[in-house]
Amino acid sequence: MSSKVKKKIQKLKESSTLVINEKSKDLISKGKKVFQFGFGQSPFPIPDEIVEKLKKNAYRKEYLPIQGLPRLREKISKYLLTRTGNDYPKENILITPGSKEAMLLIHLAFNGEIIIPAPGWVSYEPQAEIGSNKVHWLETSRSNNWFPTGKELEKKIKSINKKNNLILILNSPNNPSGTVCNNLEELARVAKKHKVLVLSDEIYTDLTFSNEYKSISKYYPELTFITGGLSKWCGAGGWRLGFLAVPKKLTEFLSSLKSLASESYSTVNTPTQYASIEAYANEHKQYKLKVRAILNAVGNYVYTNLKSNKILIAPPQGAFYLMPEFKNKKYKTSSKLCEAILDETGVAMLPGSDFGFKPKKMLTRLSYTDFNGTEFFKNVTNCSQIDDEMIKKFAPNVVEGVSKLSNWAKNL
Ligand SMILES: Cc1ncc(COP(=O)(O)O)c(C=O)c1O
Repeated sequence: MSSKVKKKIQKLKESSTLVINEKSKDLISKGKKVFQFGFGQSPFPIPDEIVEKLKKNAYRKEYLPIQGLPRLREKISKYLLTRTGNDYPKENILITPGSKEAMLLIHLAFNGEIIIPAPGWVSYEPQAEIGSNKVHWLETSRSNNWFPTGKELEKKIKSINKKNNLILILNSPNNPSGTVCNNLEELARVAKKHKVLVLSDEIYTDLTFSNEYKSISKYYPELTFITGGLSKWCGAGGWRLGFLAVPKKLTEFLSSLKSLASESYSTVNTPTQYASIEAYANEHKQYKLKVRAILNAVGNYVYTNLKSNKILIAPPQGAFYLMPEFKNKKYKTSSKLCEAILDETGVAMLPGSDFGFKPKKMLTRLSYTDFNGTEFFKNVTNCSQIDDEMIKKFAPNVVEGVSKLSNWAKNL
């Protein structure tokens, strides 16, 4: 008898991000100290005002419209207008259980192929496979801050059958490199020339350390989808509140996406949608400044103390990741390298091969969030005064893990 599970689904493996977390937990249960640099989760508390709104709305039990609460969509529309200068009307916004689901719906609906710059987030490729959309990886380099150049993008587009529709996925600040794209305008020009759609994953854009919100939609609003949500900037990953903004020219997608939503999750839970109005109605400026300042300081500490003639690394620009590259001849793949590091130092990181790089590239993803964000947040009164002493006090695991990693690399 043939297998009861579809072949393409069988091939999917559990996201490596979760696997490394499980493996770390296992080591901890055996009494080993593990530095959790593998799992990317915001350590900060959700702003009180937003939590209060969730409490106040906990009694609500009715289903909301599939597309989401109109007032929430209106606030998100305004939020995007102030950040990108573009009008994504509330009618073109879909509230989803996390932005991950929004992207999956696009893959399910889209008829075409996908260009993913490497490094790219672990779920992009499996999602495209679920949607039966062919993936074209586009490897980037350190010299362009780990984003494609216009030329590289154009070359890739030209190598693909012209008749097929294309989506370029862009994620800045980037998971895993922690870098911000400096050539959005150039990429927009190329995408526009070849009528390539863009899926701009802006889940980390509020965590840009230069305090600017840069979106490719500024230069290419007509064919850019934007996804975002509460998971990163306000640490509410478990609330599962994301959104998708569809450009007016692509409104044809909306009814299909709504059908897919209605036949799967129906609508995002009601209390969270009401609470999220608060998240988008106000700027939460002080909160965001503080969160960015702490992340920037911790990221810089890691960067300064790791970079050496054995470890190449770009300075932190946003999100909470760095992508160290280890110069070595000992290990054949980045995954073997990560295993050895976990075994010998207790530092858990993810291999670059999980993010679209060839296995023999010695890149890794380091997430510098292994600290008590509530304590750190409470103790910062002046963002410009976060020094090494504070980092040692409030992020001791990061400090110790970095020291172990740096010493380990000396023997490479
Ligand atoms: C690059 C990137 N995009 C999207 C997501 C999905 O976030 P969520 O579904 O929680 O909105 C994540 C989460 O880790 C991510 O790292």
